[in-house]
Amino acid sequence: MKTDELINTATALMAGDKGLLAMDESTSTANKRFEEAGIPQTIEYRRAYREMILTTPNLGRCLSGAILYDETIHQSTKKGELFIDILKKSGIIPGIKVDEGTVDMANFPGKKITEGLDGLRQRLEKYYDLGARFAKWRAVITIGDGIPTKGNIEANMHLLARYAALCQENAIVPIVEPEVIMEGDHSLKKCAKVTAKALKELFKQLEKQKVDLRGLILKPNMVLPGTKREKQADLDKVAKATVECLLHNVPPSVAGIAFLSGGQSPQLATAHLNAMHVKYKGKLPWPLTFSFARAIQKPALDAWKGQDKNVKAAQKLLYTRASLDNAARRGEYTPEMEF
Ligand code: 13P
Repeated sequence: MKTDELINTATALMAGDKGLLAMDESTSTANKRFEEAGIPQTIEYRRAYREMILTTPNLGRCLSGAILYDETIHQSTKKGELFIDILKKSGIIPGIKVDEGTVDMANFPGKKITEGLDGLRQRLEKYYDLGARFAKWRAVITIGDGIPTKGNIEANMHLLARYAALCQENAIVPIVEPEVIMEGDHSLKKCAKVTAKALKELFKQLEKQKVDLRGLILKPNMVLPGTKREKQADLDKVAKATVECLLHNVPPSVAGIAFLSGGQSPQLATAHLNAMHVKYKGKLPWPLTFSFARAIQKPALDAWKGQDKNVKAAQKLLYTRASLDNAARRGEYTPEMEF
């Protein structure tokens, strides 16, 4: 195992007040977001959208890494410059989503299992040659009547650990993402319980597969009440529940933690990250940052509308959103900083 290279990459990804941009939507997810925004769902529009993001001036000041999707890692700007070269020039480490999405799990009605281990070793070798230095795999855990179950959590966490081991074999830092989904009417307490269960099982499986935690990044959900819950929790309560859950279940040797936004509004995701830093400054064993997709991209996507004339305005919104997340990581964000 190339331990030094893994640790160096993981450390660079967690550096300073920077964070990650997830722009690794699968074709179907990207099309869904485009449909919602009234943008045509074609490969050229997806390429143009990713060009808008990656050519945002000074993006490297805010981001340490960006997660791409297989379609995007091979694409270029209209002028012919490879996206991956733009990232490298901006000092942003290229990453790649390698799971192949979720399917229904046999014998477990209503539950999902993530696919993508077949041929993964060869795909990782190819991605490393293209310049990717970290990867992402997402497992989905839904809270509902009688779910999730032990068997579903165990199977998903086992796959995450097998994926992480293969990444490290190829000098690629694994981001492991066990996402407890926000949708539902569950309480914050229930979300904390399920998140703790998933994390406990995840680190048990990672140990069994001999994964080196110093070269691994965890991408968890924040601990929140379900979206259908009438009473939402205040910022401090979410910050406390989330950080306590992580402190109890994530070993200190993990290189870092980078949150998904999960469908929270951009403002709320930023405010939650900020509250965690304000409350726990200097008391955390690992760096804590963002790896948002929707919470960074949404305002820019809505402003872009698929039209060249809107590129500059969209880029400004993207940069502003990412730099507000930098402020949150420093514990310096205030709602007055919103535009
Ligand atoms: P969101 O921030 O939109 O939840 O996406 C993060 C992600 O990478 C999901 O896999």
